[in-house]
Amino acid sequence: MWSALTASPRSRRVVLPLSLLLNLAIILLIVLPPPYYPDRLARLKLPEIDLEGFDLWVGQTERASKECGLCDVNPGLCQELGSDNIAKAIGFSGSNIRLRRFLQKASRGDPFTVAVVGGSVSGGHGLNDLPEGPYYSPRNMHRRVFEHLCDLFPQNDRVLMEGASEGVNGFVNGAQGGKAINDELHMGIPKPYELMLRGLLDLPSQPAILSMQIFALMFGSIALGGDLHESFSQYYDIPIVSLRNVLLPQALDNVTLVQELFVNKGPIEGESLENVDLRHLSGKGHALMADLVNAYIDGQRCAMDVGDSWEEDYTLAPLPRLRLFEKYDPYATNPTLKPDCFSMDGTKHPLVPSQNEGWRPWNWKNKNYLIADQPGSSFTVPFHSSFGTVSLYYLRSSEFGLGSVSCWVDEDKELAQKAEGYWVHEFNIGQTLNVREDLQPGEHELHCELLATSADPGKGTEFRVISVMR
Ligand SMILES: *[C@@H]1O[C@H](CO)[C@@H](O)[C@H](O)[C@H]1NC(C)=O
Repeated sequence: MWSALTASPRSRRVVLPLSLLLNLAIILLIVLPPPYYPDRLARLKLPEIDLEGFDLWVGQTERASKECGLCDVNPGLCQELGSDNIAKAIGFSGSNIRLRRFLQKASRGDPFTVAVVGGSVSGGHGLNDLPEGPYYSPRNMHRRVFEHLCDLFPQNDRVLMEGASEGVNGFVNGAQGGKAINDELHMGIPKPYELMLRGLLDLPSQPAILSMQIFALMFGSIALGGDLHESFSQYYDIPIVSLRNVLLPQALDNVTLVQELFVNKGPIEGESLENVDLRHLSGKGHALMADLVNAYIDGQRCAMDVGDSWEEDYTLAPLPRLRLFEKYDPYATNPTLKPDCFSMDGTKHPLVPSQNEGWRPWNWKNKNYLIADQPGSSFTVPFHSSFGTVSLYYLRSSEFGLGSVSCWVDEDKELAQKAEGYWVHEFNIGQTLNVREDLQPGEHELHCELLATSADPGKGTEFRVISVMR
């Protein structure tokens, strides 16, 4: 074509308009809607789908939620954070049946317990303004949510139970739990987390659980352990209120805001982050998270007013019979889980080995461990299994000269799993080793033995056990 264009001015006179016409035709095709398209749509006949009886399967309830958004119930917060930002705060809402049931019972004067399952942010790490410790600091987000509930229901007996541990995701039983997991993303987290949720949701008190999503900027990724928990929240109908959704975009663009939202360990100079603890929210970060959760709770109260649903029957459906990480099976069921955590922090179920050679209790600040440093040291913990799982929760660190253990159940030493205390990351955190997931229901014994080999470059052999979960 190009050679024709250059070869003869005559053919060029023909080709150029032709080419223009072709181009124009293409453009028209793109810009104008094809004339036959609606026709073809109209000719398609959709089969009728019988929806009769569907309302019975899905449960037919209408709950009003108009004009009960976070901005409606807390215009001040809305102004502070911006309505477009607040619009992102609810990561997942769900039915709120448990939360409304809780509000209904509290409004009738029932005593309530607020329990916290979380890590060091939940524990208020860095909020050192009270001699009793940061758990109960008036700046701690959980304390602020608790105080809000106390304001709403001033007559009720109430308890705030702090289950948060530094660097640990703990087990807590309670009437209304909040959790904020800001630990490093580990692909190993979801399974114990799901078992924990099932254990909590199945408690006789039928607690409401609310997930509080925060963020931290010190780890290898912005995504954290909590990101893996989101799918469970949706599966188990647990509302997620997210500070991260609201503030992360601005924080990425504004170092001053990061300095404000996280704990300052020392004087702040200019835009330096040197003295900013990028793992732990500051009092302001805590307060904003709490305000969002409190507004969420108020939104539910508002919706109950609007829908006149304070007297409704909030009977709970049973938990999904299958776990999210199980293969579909038309008949299989999961037993009700009565979780036990034999923890070095626990008072009800302390971790006490039935046999012990060379292991001793040890603590650092508020953290309790079972530790040993002589290779060959061993302990045995008896436990009852209903779910077939048992796991060891232990500390990982690059700096303490940590060695490795081998753990097995009963006589099945050939199925032993190894846990390495040493790792290369510069932060120290508890991690789970699933020792077995296939046990027969009944009584078993977990055995662990400290190995002579160590992943630590200095060949350290100390090992720190936090808890055993089954
Ligand atoms: C950055 O954040 C600070 C603290 O919240 C705020 O005062 C400032 O206006 C923000 N800057 C920009 C450009 O948004």
